[in-house]
Amino acid sequence: MEATTQKNIDWTNLGFGYVKTDYRYVSNYKDGKWDNGELTTDSNIVLNESAGVLQYAQTCFEGMKAYRTVDGKVVCFRPDLNAQRMIDTCKRLEMPVLPKERFIDAVVQVVRKNLDYVPPYGSGATLYIRPYMFGTNPVMGVKPADEYQFRIFTSPVGPYFKGGAKPITLRIPDFDRAAPRGTGHVKAGLNYAMSLHAIVDAHKQGFNENMYLDSATRTKIEETGGANIIFVTKDNTIVTPKSSSILPSITRRSLMYVAEHYLNLKTEEREIYLEELKDFSECALCGTAAVLSPVGKVVDHGKEIVFPSGMEKMGNITQKLYDTLTGIQMGRIDAPDGWIKEIC
Ligand code: PLP
Ligand code: COI
Repeated sequence: MEATTQKNIDWTNLGFGYVKTDYRYVSNYKDGKWDNGELTTDSNIVLNESAGVLQYAQTCFEGMKAYRTVDGKVVCFRPDLNAQRMIDTCKRLEMPVLPKERFIDAVVQVVRKNLDYVPPYGSGATLYIRPYMFGTNPVMGVKPADEYQFRIFTSPVGPYFKGGAKPITLRIPDFDRAAPRGTGHVKAGLNYAMSLHAIVDAHKQGFNENMYLDSATRTKIEETGGANIIFVTKDNTIVTPKSSSILPSITRRSLMYVAEHYLNLKTEEREIYLEELKDFSECALCGTAAVLSPVGKVVDHGKEIVFPSGMEKMGNITQKLYDTLTGIQMGRIDAPDGWIKEIC
């Protein structure tokens, strides 16, 4: 790709927002099967007033990114895991499964058609990829739709939290995110709808995000509205919450591998109690959008827990994890087998 064909966008100042790109992928499910799918320039969707998605929120999504690498390629990161997670989500929501190969092929097609929107290497921006599926035909009684649409759009994005690597502040909310046997472990739109009040309220009170607790006992750390959480102990072990009601973050699973195999650090996935917060030396949010966003402070109903890494910069271990993960994604560091899907 010639740099000259790239869109005239101020890549370095992009935030995390929707920027319309040229093509999106669409495939429809009807009479028990998927059609072949196609690319379209039409970003609008016309739906029946009683479509399953509109009445009973039958919708789910995925989030991934395309990266321009140091040697000028365009790649994406572990798309097979996003495909599998969407399959798991669809099963939980009584939606049809889109086969893994179809999902990955659609990602490749849509990114190839929007190459001019893949931000330049070193700009700090990436092309966000949003696969999603929703029930389209009219339903009245509470039941799954019979017809569905799967789509993927893309949007160039910058950092999820304004200020990029600057540590953020979380609060312990009085709201819960997920029930023990609910849908917290899948990427259902409904998990985000019900978090909107909590996030608006957190912002009003001056916090960047909510650190949710387990709803059964409200003693254990779960995750935030849009990212998993990792902690670093004083002896440099990476610890992350184990729970059946959090989303199995692909970034978090990758970071745990990177910590062990690239940085020689011990890792633990276990229940983490709110009480333990004060004992950690670093904390960060991890996810496709969040990448690895340092947390400087958690406020629990007026009680402030400031991590020793502070509010000025990323902690040392967080920085090493960040550099290694983004190094793998941008082609500066060799990736484990199967992690990088070359798009062109
Ligand atoms: N947790 C929630 C609730 C999310 O929405 C996301 C974003 O996808 C994540 C965690 C991070 O997951 P991943 O690393 O797969 O993007
Ligand atoms: C992602 O990281 O891809 C997400 O989906 C998180 C958020 C934007 C909801």
